[in-house]
Amino acid sequence: MTNKKFILVTGSFGFLAQNLIKKLLELNYNVLGIDKKNNVSFCYDFSTYKIKKKLINISLDLNNEKKLYSLLSKYNIICCFHLAAITQVNESDKYPLNNFKTNIMTTIYLLEYFRQNSKKTIFIYSSSDKAYGKFNKLPYREDFPLNGIHPYDVSKSTSDKIVQTYNYHYNMKTAITRSVNIYGPCDLNFNRLIPETILSIVKNKKIILRSNGKYLRDYIYVDDVVEGYISLYKFMIKNKINLLNNTFNFGTNKPIKVIELVKIIINKNKKYKKSILIKDIANNEIINQYSTFSKSKKHLKWKPNFSLDTGIDLTIKWYTNYLLNKK
Ligand SMILES: NC(=O)c1ccc[n+]([C@@H]2O[C@H](COP(=O)([O-])OP(=O)(O)OC[C@H]3O[C@@H](n4cnc5c(N)ncnc54)[C@H](O)[C@@H]3O)[C@@H](O)[C@H]2O)c1
Repeated sequence: MTNKKFILVTGSFGFLAQNLIKKLLELNYNVLGIDKKNNVSFCYDFSTYKIKKKLINISLDLNNEKKLYSLLSKYNIICCFHLAAITQVNESDKYPLNNFKTNIMTTIYLLEYFRQNSKKTIFIYSSSDKAYGKFNKLPYREDFPLNGIHPYDVSKSTSDKIVQTYNYHYNMKTAITRSVNIYGPCDLNFNRLIPETILSIVKNKKIILRSNGKYLRDYIYVDDVVEGYISLYKFMIKNKINLLNNTFNFGTNKPIKVIELVKIIINKNKKYKKSILIKDIANNEIINQYSTFSKSKKHLKWKPNFSLDTGIDLTIKWYTNYLLNKK
């Protein structure tokens, strides 16, 4: 094993992971990335970091427990941000076995590795506001029970509970983030609302809404979430005893109707004149979801800094450049 200290980021080719890795590298951490994807490139230019071996990225399916353990044994991992997951709800609905296997078992494999080999490693699990499921009382608070019932939601809430078990029962330094919908540069999942809307506008196509547009959602800019993850990591270094359940929401507590958000994006491009097609076929969606961040503010000194307006401007700018360079 090398003595060099690494922060492990799983799902390294994903949207959030790439933004997190960018920040970690800027802060001079060494990063070990793992993703099942190969033959893809990062959306940021990490080549200098790769040459200097500040960033090592490995293509591996985390479900391959043997290969995973053999790989991890070669590195001194001080923190693991576990982000890898099946994140597309329609994929989770269509392939429940793969959804549960990936979103639950990979968490267990990683936790077991650290329990047996490196108990001091800080383990930060990327849960979601979806883990809370349906509540009549909002905003979501960290002490709400996890009521998710749909495949993706249950896969996140199950992992979330398992991570808590390794904390309470095995005394490991684990923590959980429950973020609302994240948007920003680098999200190439074009069936998510914001990327899909921007793409439709750039291609001058009709915007299609699967929901009725009336649901309330909370949207947060990716840099704010990355700041939250890093504040949580620093908090975990300082706080040796778990008094706070180490679970933190990252949200804005400023819910907006889906249709209003789409209109904000449309209004940023005066030339776009197409109408919105509201399909209203999203049957399994929870009606309203948004989160308070007061616990994160109190203990992590974290709050969202990007307004929706600024975040959307930055996001449109990034996609416009990205799509132009792709032509
Ligand atoms: N994007 C959001 O709005 C949001 C909100 C709350 C929580 N989260 C959570 O944050 C994490 C990251 O989300 P994202 O939006 O960046 O997702 P993403 O889909 O962009 O990235 C996920 C990455 O995980 C990788 N992956 C999947 N299965 C794997 C496996 N078996 N082995 C190795 N790699 C695997 C994928 O290849 C992909 O690159 C997820 O855990 C998600 O549940 C995301």
